[in-house]
Amino acid sequence: MNILVINGPNLNLLGVREPNIYGFETLNDIKFWIANIDFGKAHTFNWYQSNHEGEIIDRLHDSMNDNTEGIIINPGAFTHYSYAIRDAIASIGIPVVEVHLSDINSREKFRWKSVIKEVCITQISGLGKEGYAEAVIALIKLLK
Ligand code: DQA
Repeated sequence: MNILVINGPNLNLLGVREPNIYGFETLNDIKFWIANIDFGKAHTFNWYQSNHEGEIIDRLHDSMNDNTEGIIINPGAFTHYSYAIRDAIASIGIPVVEVHLSDINSREKFRWKSVIKEVCITQISGLGKEGYAEAVIALIKLLK
């Protein structure tokens, strides 16, 4: 399966960014970990990170033309207010899993709301990097 993994703003700083919340592993560490887990080896992962809302939307649109079969997205803070990213997910007709490293439901109140949740097949929150692996499993189950 061709899986696109999109990470939004500030996730390029994983490893140094609030490690008490997000851990000491970098996005690259997570990328290599996913590529090397047993069930990961059977799939192709395209990783994309941007700090810009419009670029994330453009990447979602591009996924309609590059054989992407499933998408994992951690939109960072855009999760909580980007109706534009929500609309892009709803538009592309490709299954999307929402992932958060931290448990957004047990943090500040503004993080409790995800405006993309309803257009994703599931939301995985609070499992750290394991959440990305769970998202791969959810896509495999859906698409097999
Ligand atoms: C996050 C949670 C968001 O609330 C936050 O803005 C992030 C990261 C997470 O992975 O836990 O940037 O999406």
